Formats: sequence, structure tokens, C-alpha cells
Amino acid sequence: MENRDSELIEKISALKRRNNAVLLVHNYQLGEVQDIADFIGDSLDLSQRAAQTDADVIVFCGVHFMAETASILCPDKVVLLPDINAGCPMANMITAERLRAKKKEHPQAAVVCYINSSAEVKAESDVCCTSANAVRVVESLDAGEILFVPDQYLGHYVSTKTNKKMILWPGFCPTHVRIKSERIKELKKEYPQAKVVVHPECTPEVIALADEVLSTSGMCKYAQKDEVREMVVGTEIGIIHRLKKENPGKKFIPISEQAICPNMKSITLEKVLWSLQEMSPEVKVSEEIRLRAKAAVDKMLQVGRK
Ligand code: 13P
Ligand code: SF4
Repeated sequence: MENRDSELIEKISALKRRNNAVLLVHNYQLGEVQDIADFIGDSLDLSQRAAQTDADVIVFCGVHFMAETASILCPDKVVLLPDINAGCPMANMITAERLRAKKKEHPQAAVVCYINSSAEVKAESDVCCTSANAVRVVESLDAGEILFVPDQYLGHYVSTKTNKKMILWPGFCPTHVRIKSERIKELKKEYPQAKVVVHPECTPEVIALADEVLSTSGMCKYAQKDEVREMVVGTEIGIIHRLKKENPGKKFIPISEQAICPNMKSITLEKVLWSLQEMSPEVKVSEEIRLRAKAAVDKMLQVGRK
């Protein structure tokens, strides 16, 4: 570790203690940020952890919708997002207004929104889901028709696992569409023993070639199995840091080195330190939106993981 990093880390630890703060970190964050996490995980882990923490301050090292979800669950806590511009382009592919118009076209459908969405969109939805529990959430509903927003590929994946009629919003993740099926075919030849594990935000052509379709924490858990010695990984490459750290001696091969989410990478140790020094930027959801969004998030948390 560089001297500069160890100085920053010492200052961050001291401020965390002074402010009773907890650092929640997503699996795609920079390695140096992952290494100072109090807790690291996928979107479901992190929202469960936010709901349970007794810290006064949550420093969310992830993207905006994740910090917003923490604020929805913990209105009395200060939720900091060290870079307020760290958004999720997929979440920005839908607005509450456009969703309201679509709901009028399908009044009988239950609305399931991927957690990668704004608080306003959650407030218009019946229930939320993450990549770890989307199938289970959809199956838990009485409705036979589901309006699924905003990720068409996660929605398509769910549609292959349920008999319900799925209406899909045309959103997608710009990072995951960089993962190509042609490359998987080449890697399968190069590493015939490797397991191919992809995220459900990938396209159907990619998913068709996978041994497992898992959330980011699902991938970390799967990598620990004895029979997995080599893993071809179809998601944002930040996860490789955690996979290697937790599984020394195993081989992890990213399908695309270009699968980088710039928003996830915009949070640095410096920004974490500044956010704790300034107690800013804070993410806060208005009470009117929060209460409606919370109903959708709580319903998801009751369903839990797959
Ligand atoms: P996970 O919930 O699987 O970590 O996914 C979050 C995400 O943004 C994937 O792009
Ligand atoms: Fe959003 Fe894709 Fe980045 Fe995940 S990887 S935060 S879905 S843009």
C-alpha cells in the first residue's frame, strides 16, 4: 500500500469513529475502496445492511440509487454519497412521469421495479427487486401480468423463469451490453474447465451461454465452491478484485476488460475522506416520496434472497 493511501485510511478511520459512521461498499468499487469497507456486497446485501445498522452516518460507496435506498430505509440517518454525480445510466432511462403513462396502458399489471431506479420510480411501483431476487419477487405476486422496469434484460431473464406475462421497459446497462457472446465462445475453447458466470443484466445471447446467472454477491459465493477452479466472469470488472482476494489460487477471467462502470469508479479514497470531513454530499428523499418508495422496498425485503 502506498504511503498516501495509508495516511488517507487512518484519517478516514478516525473520522468514522468520531461520527459513528459505517462504510457500505458495492462489489464494483475500486479495490482500495473495497479494502476499507465495513461491509461489502450486492444491492440486496447493502439495503439489508442499511436497514439494520445502528450507525448514525452511512457512507455509501456505490451509485446514487443505492444511497437513496439507504435513505428511504433510514430517514433518521445521514446518508453520504462521496461523489454526488455517481449515477446509474440505466436508472435514468425511466422517469416517474413516463411510468405513470405506461401504467395507464396496463392497469391490471403489477409494477416491479429493479432497485436500479430513482426513489420517484420506486414510489410508483408495487414492489422492488434486485438481481438476487427478481424471479422470486415476481413469483411472489398474485398478478398474472407484470410491468417490469427499467432493465429489459433482467426482465427478459425473469420471463424465462415464470409463466407470468411480462411487459418490459426498454432500459439496459451500458456496461453489461459490452459483454459479448462471441468472446464467451472463444474463452470456452481457451478454458474448457472454467465455469461461465454472468450477471442477469447481460443480453439473452450471453445468458444463453452461461453456467450460472447470478448477482454480484451470488458470484462471490459461487466462486468459493471447491469445484470452481477457473471462472469466466460476465459483469463489471471491479468484482475481480474481491474474487481474487477471497480465492487465492483460483483463476478469474473477465469476458470484457471494457466492462467498466465509470460511475462506480468515480468514488476514491480522497472523496470518502472529504465526505466525512464535510458531512456532504448528503442524499435525502422527500417524506412524501419516501413513504411510498419504502412500501415497495419493504415488500422486497420481506421476500429476501432466492
Ligand atoms: P448487484 O445487485 O448484483 O450487485 O448489481 C448491481 C448493479 O448495478 C449491476 O450492474
Ligand atoms: Fe448502473 Fe450498469 Fe453501473 Fe450497475 S454497472 S450501476 S446497472 S450503469
